[in-house]
Amino acid sequence: MVKSKMNTYPFLKGFCLLFGLVLLAACQSGTDKTSSTSTSSIQDRLDNKEIKYFSNGKRLYTQYCANCHMEDGEGLGKLIPPLNKADYLLKDVVGAAKIIAHGQQGEIMVNNIQYNQPMPGYSNLNANQIAELLTYISNAWDNAYGPVEVNDVKKALNK
Ligand code: HEC
Repeated sequence: MVKSKMNTYPFLKGFCLLFGLVLLAACQSGTDKTSSTSTSSIQDRLDNKEIKYFSNGKRLYTQYCANCHMEDGEGLGKLIPPLNKADYLLKDVVGAAKIIAHGQQGEIMVNNIQYNQPMPGYSNLNANQIAELLTYISNAWDNAYGPVEVNDVKKALNK
């Protein structure tokens, strides 16, 4: 009696370990689908043409945006909102085309923090460059939005 009971322990231990692993895997694939940020690589999300957009966008970002929003997209305290994991940007990435083209002022909430400083517009940038910038900022750092189409940017700018 005692002996047969003892023998079930290694089996139970193995079963629990396996069950735990399956649960862990299920949880991880679950969070990947629901969150807007992930650690998946750029190649998983963007094709070659879009990766070109991303790298051109990075150049434009360094030139026009990084002095305020910072190289790491974290912004600057209560003055400049972040772009990395920014709910404001990620809820309407294409719509942000207008912010880049025309600037933005007045109170806005980004990740539950209120900002109210004017951002200049960049009327010198065309729809293509804006799509490149949006591809970069929505897929850089922890952001994992996916591709941004030039045609959608054009439509957003004409709204
Ligand atoms: C002079 C500093 C400055 C520069 C340069 C600048 N921004 Fe901004 N940006 C701001 C400020 C300040 C706000 C918040 C505006 C407000 O309070 O209404 C903002 C808001 C935003 C937002 C919406 C809020 C958010 O965080 O999601 C986006 C998107 C954005 N900027 C993108 C850009 C991009 C892309 C560039 C480069 C083309 C750029 N900004 C250049 C200062 C700047």
